[in-house]
Amino acid sequence: IRCQSTSTDEVKTKRNFLDNASNLLTNFLSGGSLGDMPIAEGAVTDLFDRPLFFSLYDWFIEHGAVYKLAFGPKAFVVVSDPVVARHILRENAFSFDKGVLADILEPIMGKGLIPADLDTWKLRRRVIAPGFHSLYLETMVKIFTSCSERTILKIDKLLERESLQGGQTIELDLEAEFSSLALDIIGLGVFNYDFGSVTKESPVIKAVYGTLFEAEHRSTFYIPYWKVPLMKWIVPRQRKFQKDLKVINDCLDGLIRNAKDTRQETDVEKLQQRDYSNLKDASLLRFLVDMRGADVDDRQLRDDLMTMLIAGHETTAAVLTWAVFLLAQNPSKMKKAQKEIDSVLGQDEPTFESVKKLDYIRLIVVESLRLYPQPPLLIRRSLKSDKLPGGYNGNKDGYAIPPGTDIFISVYNLHRSPYFWDHPNEFEPERFLVQKKNEDVEGWDGFDPSRSPGALYPNEVISDFAFLPFGGGPRKCVGDQFALMESTVALAMLLQKFDVELKGSPESVELVTGATIHTKNGLWCKLRKRSHETS
Ligand code: HEM
Repeated sequence: IRCQSTSTDEVKTKRNFLDNASNLLTNFLSGGSLGDMPIAEGAVTDLFDRPLFFSLYDWFIEHGAVYKLAFGPKAFVVVSDPVVARHILRENAFSFDKGVLADILEPIMGKGLIPADLDTWKLRRRVIAPGFHSLYLETMVKIFTSCSERTILKIDKLLERESLQGGQTIELDLEAEFSSLALDIIGLGVFNYDFGSVTKESPVIKAVYGTLFEAEHRSTFYIPYWKVPLMKWIVPRQRKFQKDLKVINDCLDGLIRNAKDTRQETDVEKLQQRDYSNLKDASLLRFLVDMRGADVDDRQLRDDLMTMLIAGHETTAAVLTWAVFLLAQNPSKMKKAQKEIDSVLGQDEPTFESVKKLDYIRLIVVESLRLYPQPPLLIRRSLKSDKLPGGYNGNKDGYAIPPGTDIFISVYNLHRSPYFWDHPNEFEPERFLVQKKNEDVEGWDGFDPSRSPGALYPNEVISDFAFLPFGGGPRKCVGDQFALMESTVALAMLLQKFDVELKGSPESVELVTGATIHTKNGLWCKLRKRSHETS
């Protein structure tokens, strides 16, 4: 949520007025029930010049794990407690929808899974989730390696050019490289379209970035002016957004038409027999068209693909960005990671099987997601009256909430909570191997890796909702294993070939947030070829 810059006095006056008005309104709407909830003071000024989730953290430490944030005419309940998060996401999941998030994303994703109303969601989730089965993931690992190879080749070429001039190190914005890599992977994996963005620019690529940029603008802009009639044709950035959307929609429509026109019974049989090794196109779109028949509604398919394009692109790029940022500040952990890569992979590319042996790299990926969750907030709105548990340091009787209550589950707060993590702000991938309990937190079953024995990566079940990188309950991310494997493969391949350092100080890497946490000016790094003789 972004605020316009005004003088501090003016802001204070406005803030007091808006806070009072919103408290009255909220208490009126909630019949006074939200009135027992601690209220975060000092809203508006604290929102200047830094991402919202930092302020939410400070208020969490001050007011507790469930508090009300009021600013402007709006009030939000901010949750930083695993028991309350579990209630909202799993135990009472169907009493909530995506609220503000759906309002923002619906113009882009239509009735895709993220913003979809519950009826549409139930139908589409049943169709899409089975597409992410283990044979699909096994086939995807080949796409992850071939796309990562392109990035490696690009860096190799830049280094070769540098060596002709006597240098051995290049400077590169790795965030931008990861973004291109993740776009290529999502295009090939979800709809068999090669953006080729690691090596080129195209109108479709530009349109994807334009759309992401607009989604971010909408998620951080206070007044939804784009909903005002005619605005989308009057405001230049809204006109550009409509144009970008059309470019992507035309591209997706073409791919859907092609997938339907080329549907072949032999491919359907291969899919039914799970014979992925002989399939030319193993994409999710092929699965959706082949297994579900050619009569699937084109508009719905397009919404599904658009949703996965947006949901699976910047999120994964961000994980890679922060993993490198954290490793670069921890040389001993970087060495440990490279040692594991050398011993598991040698000079080979990762495979589905070898990813299972990259234990430390997998922990690095999840620890990066703990410190930099994507997105840092999960957004819900209550559809009916409900009672939230009070949180470990709140009202024992809990808090009644009326229909229409907007809720932020602060994943960032949960992931950095001193109640659930030792040294919460430190980068310690090994922490996920250790059991932990906190008897003071009633109803929290603690952290126990044995709770989810088959899981390759720590998850919300192991942590009883203290670790929520992919949400939890029925609306948990469908692409979690895809994204985790993709990040493991890409990170392993990068560190297998190159030594990476930050170009400037860690403090110079400023954070910005929209849907994801990213850098303000890129993650500028120094890269050099690894010398395997000396490692
Ligand atoms: C939902 C995170 C990658 C597709 C979610 C949610 C989170 C999340 C937290 C739950 C949102 C909520 O409850 O409000 C991530 C992260 C990723 C990632 C951190 C990368 C590291 C992907 C990929 C895909 C994908 C690669 C698709 C290929 C989706 C979809 C949903 C979703 C379709 C909506 C699920 C539903 O409502 O049924 N993601 N995601 N995500 N994600 Fe991901």
